[in-house]
Amino acid sequence: MKVLITAGPTREKIDIVRFLSNRSSGKMGYALAAAAAERGWQVVLVSGPVNLSAPAGVRLLNVESAAEMASAVKAEAADADLVIMAAAVADFTPKQCCEHKIKKTSGGLTLELEATEDILLSLGRNKPAGQILVGFAAESENLLVNARDKMRRKNLDWIAANDISKTDSGFAADANTVTLLSCDGGIIELARDSKKNIAEKIIGILEQTV
Ligand code: CTP
Repeated sequence: MKVLITAGPTREKIDIVRFLSNRSSGKMGYALAAAAAERGWQVVLVSGPVNLSAPAGVRLLNVESAAEMASAVKAEAADADLVIMAAAVADFTPKQCCEHKIKKTSGGLTLELEATEDILLSLGRNKPAGQILVGFAAESENLLVNARDKMRRKNLDWIAANDISKTDSGFAADANTVTLLSCDGGIIELARDSKKNIAEKIIGILEQTV
């Protein structure tokens, strides 16, 4: 049983000292990796920059940008039985990275951004038979409608919907409140709990489907 999990934010370089990123802590992805490894599964964790150490028994691949995460994930996904994309991948990246430190000018600065690859969308389009593909949906409004739409659009088997408008759970917090939706219409509410316990429950549910 091979499981591929992504975690954390990505960093998109503006110049040699500056980057665009987000508040993802990586806690949810790392907790999922720990829960999967405890079952004796072979776990590969592709992680953006976070302040966490690899859970015991997990093969950690460190990446920085969305492009690096895309290549690491694609290299590992083909033979994975279960793929969980918990990373908060940047949707946009600076069109050009300046090879020196950009100097301050009085006129301000306009950054030109281009879209990054949607890694999960690519995985869904090339999903091998029998692979279970799970995404996360970080939503600040219309949680379930938007999450279901993402699940359909990206050809997922499950999606974990996160309400990121709350400050006491979800993005960067220690706790999470998750609604797990399955492609056949199933809906499982996981009440607010530590990310460790939420991860345990998600892995336990997925275990019954693989
Ligand atoms: N994702 C990805 N590659 C991206 C952006 C997102 O693989 N470039 C994955 C995330 O890891 C997550 C899922 O897609 O599992 C949904 O991410 P989310 O940020 O909620 O949605 P987006 O698809 O980026 O759409 P939007 O920002 O418009 O809500």
